[in-house]
Amino acid sequence: MKVLVIGNGAREHVLCENFNSSNKVSKVFVAPGNGGTSECAVNLSIDSDDISGLLSFAKSNRIDLTVVGPEIPLSLGIVDVFEENGLNIFGPSKSASQIESSKLFAKNLMVEIGVPTADFCVVEDYEQVDIDTFGFGPPYVIKADGLAAGKGVAIADTFAEASSLLRSHLVDKTFGSASEKVIVERFLSGREISVFGFVDGSRVSSLTAACDYKKICDGNKGENTGGMGGYSPPEATLWNKNIENWVRDNVMQPVVDELRNRRMPYKGILYAGLIKTEDGLKVLEFNCRFGDPEAQLIIPRIENDLIDIMNDVVSEKIKTNSVNWNPETSVGVVVVSKGYPNEYEVGYEIKGVDLLDDKVQVFHAGTTLNMTEKENLLQTSGGRVLTVVSKDKDVNLARDNVYRNISRINFNGATFRHDIALLN
Ligand SMILES: Nc1ncnc2c1ncn2[C@@H]1O[C@H](COP(=O)(O)OP(=O)(O)O)[C@@H](O)[C@H]1O
Ligand SMILES: [Mg+2]
Repeated sequence: MKVLVIGNGAREHVLCENFNSSNKVSKVFVAPGNGGTSECAVNLSIDSDDISGLLSFAKSNRIDLTVVGPEIPLSLGIVDVFEENGLNIFGPSKSASQIESSKLFAKNLMVEIGVPTADFCVVEDYEQVDIDTFGFGPPYVIKADGLAAGKGVAIADTFAEASSLLRSHLVDKTFGSASEKVIVERFLSGREISVFGFVDGSRVSSLTAACDYKKICDGNKGENTGGMGGYSPPEATLWNKNIENWVRDNVMQPVVDELRNRRMPYKGILYAGLIKTEDGLKVLEFNCRFGDPEAQLIIPRIENDLIDIMNDVVSEKIKTNSVNWNPETSVGVVVVSKGYPNEYEVGYEIKGVDLLDDKVQVFHAGTTLNMTEKENLLQTSGGRVLTVVSKDKDVNLARDNVYRNISRINFNGATFRHDIALLN
């Protein structure tokens, strides 16, 4: 089989490595990829949202399966276009991907079928907002309806703060068309888990979960990022067979059934972001693809061939036991450029990725491999540079493996959190 992966992050690197090691795969292409993917796949200079460029490559190279990493091409309808052209592709259609690309679509769907989620209201007209609009008290969670690259959610402690955030969304249009509608949610407190299942339009595989760390600094301080690390599976108080069954029966299966009834069957990986409140688990959001860094944690835990699983999704043959999740724990820590998530410099040489123990894997994101006559120079090219991952018998062993190795990786300004998976 020839496989095409779309995207350029560590999530796509782990996918490429997995496919490259499958005896069913003869060649892996990635568009556009990064410095790490060039070791296990052929990097193409086609952007991940250039749908027509990707289509013409897939057609002329007879790609057997295309796997979409990020949400943007899914929301642009890449799956519909590939399927119309008779090509196999892993991911949801444009209409089904609204579960991520419109938070309002997801909230309305949850309300309609009774999936537990935070109380909310929708605001479209800033002039109409007063303190009684919301129907519940502060703190308020203010969310842009559309895709905002993880930056569309903010917490307001007072009505005045909420009002000023609504003004920036609706009047100043900070997020453009992504915030023509804004959702104001009741604030929930509790631990969060991300739950993943493979879906073939009607059935859902066995599930797994991960915990991630969004804040830039130790102790969950500072600004939000794309993700600084995580571990999978979570500890038994957050994730066990009963919780898995509950999420399957009360979240995943009802959503999949409803989307099929609406004639927008969901295929691909379905990712539910949940929070464990005193009132039980509630859904914060859905994503229509693997998370990053969660992909780097959960894909190494898949014991059977991921290509078989994805083929089962595409050909609608998923069974509960289609995926064998390894019970060991993965821990991943993201190394970022100094300054991220704000301004940072790139172009620094990365040393030491070849000095790590066998127990540790490195997945690249913001890296490029510059091949000169003398040497291959690995350099930084982004904010999140690498994810260092280890899988071991328990979370402590896996975390120790990561932190024992991570400081061998060196580039100017390399920064990472020191408290990933430090459970207390
Ligand atoms: N109702 C809520 N109560 C408390 N925190 C929330 C709520 N909704 C979202 N959050 C926080 O904001 C983060 C981002 O929200 P989410 O809906 O996942 O949007 P996105 O991932 O698209 O930015 C969540 O992971 C959670 O920490
Ligand atoms: Mg989220």
